[in-house]
Amino acid sequence: MDINIGKKAAGERAVDFLQPGMTVGLGTGSTAYYAIKRIGGMVRDGLVIRAVATSEESARLAELEQIPLVPFDQVEVIDIDIDGADEVNDQLQLIKGGGGALLREKIIAASSKEMIVVVDENKLVKTLGKFPLPVEIIPFAWELTFRHLVALGANPVTRMLGNERFVTDNGNYILDCSFGQITDAVELNTQLKEIPGIVENGLFLNYASAVIVGYKDGTIKEIT
Ligand code: A5P
Repeated sequence: MDINIGKKAAGERAVDFLQPGMTVGLGTGSTAYYAIKRIGGMVRDGLVIRAVATSEESARLAELEQIPLVPFDQVEVIDIDIDGADEVNDQLQLIKGGGGALLREKIIAASSKEMIVVVDENKLVKTLGKFPLPVEIIPFAWELTFRHLVALGANPVTRMLGNERFVTDNGNYILDCSFGQITDAVELNTQLKEIPGIVENGLFLNYASAVIVGYKDGTIKEIT
């Protein structure tokens, strides 16, 4: 994998927030990757934490890194969640799901005391919406859900993996939706929640406690 200096700087810095004994949410994607790698090194050096993963991919990486994963029936609270994002605005609203893990990511974020978002500088935007909003839908009658999204002006595109529809860890499909500039993310989120067949969408509106931005010279900035 090519090293992205900004992503590496942000991902690794977020790990400074960890304390022994914490339950940690492990995000998904190429920035969270660096956080998980650093946590792995610290665990092997004796740091005692336990973790939950936001995707099968991150669970596999955690296992390789010997980070102990706990079943959810043994989790009362997740102390800190470290995850990437596809877009971040200055209100710390996010678009997530470029990797297709948005549903599990949102479930973990919603049960975390703190969500530390790790991004490189390219993810900062004034207004959300340049990155198509990933929307996870169930396969049953997906064509009808698709039409509801067309009616909402989403210009949905079915995410593909080669010649097949991309299937999430939860067995669902993703529609990548271009709404243009999302000036009222709260309203859009409400509208999406009203469409049956949509399981979740990639707007994360009240989750991020801090955003760590990594720059290509290796410096970081923290936004709270
Ligand atoms: C995974 O579904 C996403 O939400 C990722 O967290 C997001 O796409 C950021 O990924 P990168 O860190 O790889 O850019």
